[in-house]
Amino acid sequence: MRDETSKSSGLIRGRFGEGMSEVMEQINASIGFDQRMAMQDIDGSIAHVTMLCEQKIISEEDATAIKDGLEVIRTEITDGKFAFSVELEDIHMNVESRLHELIGAAAGRLHTARSRNDQVATGFRLWVRDANDRALSLVQQLIEVLVEQAAENTATIMPGYTHLQSAQPVSFGHHLMAYVEMFGRDHGRLSDSRARMNESPLGAAALAGTSFPIDRERTAELLGFARPMRNSLDAVSDRDFAIEYLSAASMCMTHLSRLAEEIVLWMSPQFGFIELSDAWTTGSSIMPQKRNPDAAELVRGKTGRVHGSLFGLLTVMKALPLTFSKDMQEDKERTFDGADTFELCLKATIGMIGDMKPRVSEMRAAAGTGHATATDLADWLTGVLGMPFREAHHITGRLVRLADEWGAGLDELSLEQMREVDARINEGVFAVLGVEDSVTSRRSLGGTSPECVARQAAEWRDRVGQLRVE
Ligand code: ARG
Repeated sequence: MRDETSKSSGLIRGRFGEGMSEVMEQINASIGFDQRMAMQDIDGSIAHVTMLCEQKIISEEDATAIKDGLEVIRTEITDGKFAFSVELEDIHMNVESRLHELIGAAAGRLHTARSRNDQVATGFRLWVRDANDRALSLVQQLIEVLVEQAAENTATIMPGYTHLQSAQPVSFGHHLMAYVEMFGRDHGRLSDSRARMNESPLGAAALAGTSFPIDRERTAELLGFARPMRNSLDAVSDRDFAIEYLSAASMCMTHLSRLAEEIVLWMSPQFGFIELSDAWTTGSSIMPQKRNPDAAELVRGKTGRVHGSLFGLLTVMKALPLTFSKDMQEDKERTFDGADTFELCLKATIGMIGDMKPRVSEMRAAAGTGHATATDLADWLTGVLGMPFREAHHITGRLVRLADEWGAGLDELSLEQMREVDARINEGVFAVLGVEDSVTSRRSLGGTSPECVARQAAEWRDRVGQLRVE
């Protein structure tokens, strides 16, 4: 089926005799999704027209009419009164066509010294910069709420794990502060990506620049970019700014997913380490006893979606010759979905961490099982009795076996029983077999003693206020 009256023919199909087929229109159109960057498109156009007027490329009268018309369109879109048309392909042509309806012939001057290629590169870059800024602020909030939980739990003792087996007792606050470090690096990656993407493609025109006397520094300044991009071919043809944002988001999602996984484990009756309120859990339709950590499971599950967005866009870009190819229109849905998912998961995690109540005695009891102070015992044999560590390790292993035979903890063995394994052991040993002693003794830099953890939390409280963009 051909549609010879297609509206887009009025704007750009001057040399085409016939209309597009319906399927061509369907595969070609991006208005279904790129209407999300309408505000950024209008901002880009206003900056462009302001500069065109300052450079005397268009008249003041035309520039004012164009700017006023664009503001009317902005309001129509914000109020949900704008009729988006698939025939007009994308947001750029929808806005321009409406501008013609509103102000007539002057609208045709907006596209002077510009192409949709630098227009879309600019609008999309502005959109990703906004998303990157929202993510920076959410990661900052997440760090804040984790630091507060950690500060309240410096002396809450839990088992520390390796291979998901009880290894050494640690402070619950210390465990949470480990995530603060990860999210701190994520914040750093997002700040880096923001700084690198903050250059203006506008004025690159189709690919080669323009013969009009434009001022690219001026449009860059008007749009809050640090500077114009240096190479016009690069400006219209790379989407590495979106890939870098999605890459930082993917790394952060991996951290969110690990934390979510721990929330799922801690919530299970087998662990019973934390409680989450009704705000962050669901019930089962058949099993009344259940309180399921669905939000955490969904954060874990949605991680794949953000990773998928990253890989989708990397794959779109990987074999494109310079400069623009229509493949690049596929950048938007991936990035929009990645950003929506990332932000939702950050919000859910901020909510869960704020809501989470540690079950202190359950954690403490679990920390005492599995001979979690065996390393402390080996350290004592080495440090106090002067044994080589390998020998101490061996003797500790024999004491663990003995305790297992008696179904006892290491601190429940009598001195006589221990001396049967090694006669040099004295009553001083009992000072290191307790779980609290173990945690308190680990005062090395970055260690788990409540005092170290309190210091880490205090340092982060100061640092988080200084985490500012750029
Ligand atoms: N809708 C297009 C996109 O998203 C706009 C750029 C069109 N440029 C072109 N030469 N066809 O990339």
